[in-house]
Amino acid sequence: MDDLDKLESDLRGEIDAAQDLRALDDARIAALGKKGRVSLMMRELGQMDPEQRKQAGQALNALRQRLEDAVTARRQALEEAHLNERLATERADVSLPVRPRAQGGVHPVSQVMEEIAVIFSEMGFVVREGPDIEDDFHNFTALNFPPDHPARETHDTFFLEETDKDGNPLVLRTHTSPVQVRTMLNQKPPIRIIAQGRTYRCDSDQTHTPMFHQTEGLVIDKATNMGHLKGCLMEFISAYFERDVEVRFRPHHFPFTEPSAEMDVRYERAGDEIRIGQGEDWMEIVGCGMVHPNVIANCGLDPKEYQGFAFGFGVDRLAMLKYGMPDLRDFFAADSRWLKHYNFPALIQPNLATGLS
Ligand code: DAH
Repeated sequence: MDDLDKLESDLRGEIDAAQDLRALDDARIAALGKKGRVSLMMRELGQMDPEQRKQAGQALNALRQRLEDAVTARRQALEEAHLNERLATERADVSLPVRPRAQGGVHPVSQVMEEIAVIFSEMGFVVREGPDIEDDFHNFTALNFPPDHPARETHDTFFLEETDKDGNPLVLRTHTSPVQVRTMLNQKPPIRIIAQGRTYRCDSDQTHTPMFHQTEGLVIDKATNMGHLKGCLMEFISAYFERDVEVRFRPHHFPFTEPSAEMDVRYERAGDEIRIGQGEDWMEIVGCGMVHPNVIANCGLDPKEYQGFAFGFGVDRLAMLKYGMPDLRDFFAADSRWLKHYNFPALIQPNLATGLS
């Protein structure tokens, strides 16, 4: 029996010393496997007389059981330690600060459209959208472009092969003004919307690309007048450039407004730099006017009851002027060096309280 006690303490020692599951399995086989030390002793039972065999057999069975329990306990301890170790190394520290600059960035055009939307939404405008592919009615006819009028040609329209129900070719919209039409057809005044997005004209040089971006504004109710239009655009342009900007309004012509005007901003050149808001020169920025009564009627409203103003301007141009990018074609060349240089942090939303840019 002393032998058994010694054997038990040896084998237990090996089991408890096992540092991983493989070593534990080796210890288990050495003790309890077919050729393990306990199994070998069991084989000797056959040579004993019945009384001795009974006693020794019971003692060996009990020993086998205790060793099996010891293996189970050790296995559990090892598995638990392994799990704890994984939990410790795979832990995510949620209190770590976020990376100050995310990998991706916001394209200047997206940033500027966001800035524009923030300013107009403060003034009570809502944002509307329309399709890039338009029909002749929404892009031209409803906006009071007479058939075959030269104004249609100044738009350098991309015509598609597909036609509308009257057989006129569909077009890539040449301006965001069709969203005016869609809005008036679908919403009862008062209306106060801006619409931003892609527009298309067959044109390409330093300040023109075949695809560019516009913002359109439309206000329709019963009492809005030209004074409101001027105040709205003056407010907008100073908020956008984040400084006082002196402006002037010049008479102009658009088919969809009467009277029509263009708004210029004061600017000066200093070397390569263009400074908006000061200086002796004027730069045209926005087209605008009182919505033509024909347009109001074409959109199913009574021009004797309703009136209002509209305006439209190029987003890319405003981005170039504010952020100093000299060539419009670079905007859409998808050159990652340019994008890296001019992009905006993705996690900082423009707002009027802390500044737009
Ligand atoms: N649609 C004009 C263009 O693309 C811009 C414009 C001018 C829009 C005057 C307007 C407006 O709504 O009133 O050149």
